[in-house]
Amino acid sequence: MNNTINLLIEAIKDQKEIFGDELFETFTIESRIEEPKNLIHEQKPIFMPSNNLFEEFAKCETIDSLYNTINECQKCALGKTRTKFVFGTGNPTADVMIIGEAPGADEDKQGIPFVGRAGKLLTDILKAINFEREEVYIANILKCRPPNNRNPLPAEMEECTPYLYKQIELIKPKVILCLGLVAASSLLNQKVSLTKLRGNVYDIQGIKTMVTYHPAALLRNPNWKRGCWEDVQKFRKLYDSLS
Ligand code: URA
Repeated sequence: MNNTINLLIEAIKDQKEIFGDELFETFTIESRIEEPKNLIHEQKPIFMPSNNLFEEFAKCETIDSLYNTINECQKCALGKTRTKFVFGTGNPTADVMIIGEAPGADEDKQGIPFVGRAGKLLTDILKAINFEREEVYIANILKCRPPNNRNPLPAEMEECTPYLYKQIELIKPKVILCLGLVAASSLLNQKVSLTKLRGNVYDIQGIKTMVTYHPAALLRNPNWKRGCWEDVQKFRKLYDSLS
């Protein structure tokens, strides 16, 4: 019985991953017709809160000093429940930045993002488009694990995203790939489905940004891998066009 309930919960989570809150809205046939995919899609303004100079971390000039300044953060309740602070990993001058949602159990134990099964799949996806994991920079919207892998709360994201914006400012990537709806809607300030976000190119303070499925969702739904493959090929082309 418990197993059935867990399977149902996972299935609903997957639906929400793709459709967001639209699943619970009525929609017309017209709204299901795919809109044209644009280069630099219309988007709401995105504010980089790291220009809040009153915060100590905003003055950091290197990734290491940022880590040293924030790694004992207790701004939200996750500071009490985490094992390790999962700052981010990879090349501090990377051209490519990958942004996920939040650490899971493996990441919480090791203090490194994407080291579990989803992480292995992410490494394979990157390899498939000729990026080594070590050459990119990988971080999450949240630096600490939400208990039982629940979705990040809006207040947690509000406290934590300034750290991510500061990382982006210091790393200065040419392109960003967002994994999954939670990361994408938080970073792009959009409240639409993953279907609508995929395939477009957004602009975060001059940095071209694209969106694809979260690898954990791909592990549960291997039939979404084809769409992911199309997304990451476009992402690679975008990167090549800027190099
Ligand atoms: N899922 C994420 O979004 N980030 C991780 O670091 C691991 C799993």
